[in-house]
Amino acid sequence: MKVFVTGASGFIGSALLSELVSSGNEVIGLARSEESATKIESISPTVKVLRGDLRDLDTLRKGATDSEAVVHLGFVHDFANYDRCCEIDRKATVAMLESLKVTNKQFIYTNGSFGLHPGKVAYKEDTIDEDSENLRAVNEETALSYKDKGVSVRCVRLAPTVHGKGDRAFVPILMDIAQASGKSGYVGDGHNLWPAIHRLDAARLFRLVLKKGRTGEAYHGIAEQGIPFKEIAKVIGEIINVPVASIPECKAGKHFSFMNFFVTRDGPVSSVATRKDLEWEPQQVGPLEDIRTNYRLN
Ligand SMILES: NC(=O)c1ccc[n+]([C@@H]2O[C@H](COP(=O)([O-])OP(=O)(O)OC[C@H]3O[C@@H](n4cnc5c(N)ncnc54)[C@H](OP(=O)(O)O)[C@@H]3O)[C@@H](O)[C@H]2O)c1
Repeated sequence: MKVFVTGASGFIGSALLSELVSSGNEVIGLARSEESATKIESISPTVKVLRGDLRDLDTLRKGATDSEAVVHLGFVHDFANYDRCCEIDRKATVAMLESLKVTNKQFIYTNGSFGLHPGKVAYKEDTIDEDSENLRAVNEETALSYKDKGVSVRCVRLAPTVHGKGDRAFVPILMDIAQASGKSGYVGDGHNLWPAIHRLDAARLFRLVLKKGRTGEAYHGIAEQGIPFKEIAKVIGEIINVPVASIPECKAGKHFSFMNFFVTRDGPVSSVATRKDLEWEPQQVGPLEDIRTNYRLN
């Protein structure tokens, strides 16, 4: 299958490229810079590069229409301007989906699992509430609505902790905060749950969603349903060699900055149905052992 991947040079996208190529797929990766293009090409000489930005809607339409399937992983991770990032994502998603109308081609939208059902286990069949804390909920809903417009659209909801070598997301940011403040913090009793998945298990999941997924379905990229945040803070404290401490809620905003929103979420997510439907089982090391073994400060 010929697959167009946005975010192809990213942490998850680069793992997906290897996964797709080794299972015989043809891949076109979006790259916004020379550096990203070189990274994509180094994964396999068979991978083709389409140069462009997530805001170049004509380029995105070309990538989508020239391929048999799209995996949309690209995202501008500017958490200080998250609304703007979601708007760029919405326009990019709609541009690609509009160009695929009535083709019955596949399109996979990527969302995070945070805020699906705060404080309750979220299941695959759960839709996202309108007043959800999941800021990409509207984009997910918009993407899935194209199932009625002749696009075989599916969604993957990823754990907030996609871990592995080369991680640039939440755990490294928490490590920097711990180093700068001299303590690895959690809020309150730290019992709030964070799901997790290894990037290689996530990459295999995306391939299986392409191969076996059903139109209009959301799949949960979750290996561990929920790890108490305090356990993550403990491992970070261990590897940086700083004490682990409860941060009072009134001081958490200052301590964690924009990460406070994420650090305080309680969002267990079930992947029982996803495992069954796709015959997918996570095979990689869990997050605590991975962080302990493979994560160090830059
Ligand atoms: N990693 C996690 O823990 C996690 C958890 C939940 C959900 N997710 C979601 O999963 C998806 C992939 O995440 P990731 O961890 O692989 O992210 P990442 O490593 O930050 O990669 C983001 C990708 O998007 C590309 N990109 C960013 N801005 C762009 C722009 N303006 N134009 C074109 N491309 C642009 C990047 O290209 P460059 O290489 O050129 O920067 C990169 O290929 C994202 O939607 C993310 O929100 C990730």
